[in-house]
Amino acid sequence: SSALASELVVRGFRDVPDFPEPGVVFKDITPLLADPAAFGALARVLADLALAAGAGAVAGIEARGFMFAAPAAERAGVGFWPVRKAGKLPPPVLRRDYDLEYGSASLEVAASAVRPGAKVLVVDDVLATGGTARAACELLEEAGAEVVGLVVLLELAFLGGREVLGERAVVALHTQT
Ligand code: PRP
Repeated sequence: SSALASELVVRGFRDVPDFPEPGVVFKDITPLLADPAAFGALARVLADLALAAGAGAVAGIEARGFMFAAPAAERAGVGFWPVRKAGKLPPPVLRRDYDLEYGSASLEVAASAVRPGAKVLVVDDVLATGGTARAACELLEEAGAEVVGLVVLLELAFLGGREVLGERAVVALHTQT
């Protein structure tokens, strides 16, 4: 159930104040990953959301998104597409640059992985400002895929990430207000 999924996220995430810099509360997923029952149950929830959305692939955002997107894709019986930080994938790649609070970053996907017209569900651990998720969605859309939605385990709603994702369907297993 969605109440159980929310509870598993609450129990599995650990808040680390002032990491990696003062004023930032880091959301540590290590306890969740170390608990096979909780990890498996959440992977199943994500897989069911992928199937319900008609997704033919699940994309995960490096690095923590990989840890949930890959088992979800495998359980759903669809392909896993890694969306990587720049410079990790061999060519040919498709690339999307995006702005951070300070500076900029880039995401890349293997051109051969993205099947034009394929329906893909994007999965990440945390939705904060939304910059990373938006860049991933735009990259996949530019590559010709149809993003059927974004699923995150934890949404930090006070940072407004959902708003920058426009009309895309956003599901959060747990929302922190
Ligand atoms: C975190 C998180 C999301 C992103 C959310 O990843 O896993 O991908 O930040 O932030 P945003 O909504 O403000 O863009 P991070 O960049 O820390 O990388 P990691 O997964 O490799 O630790």
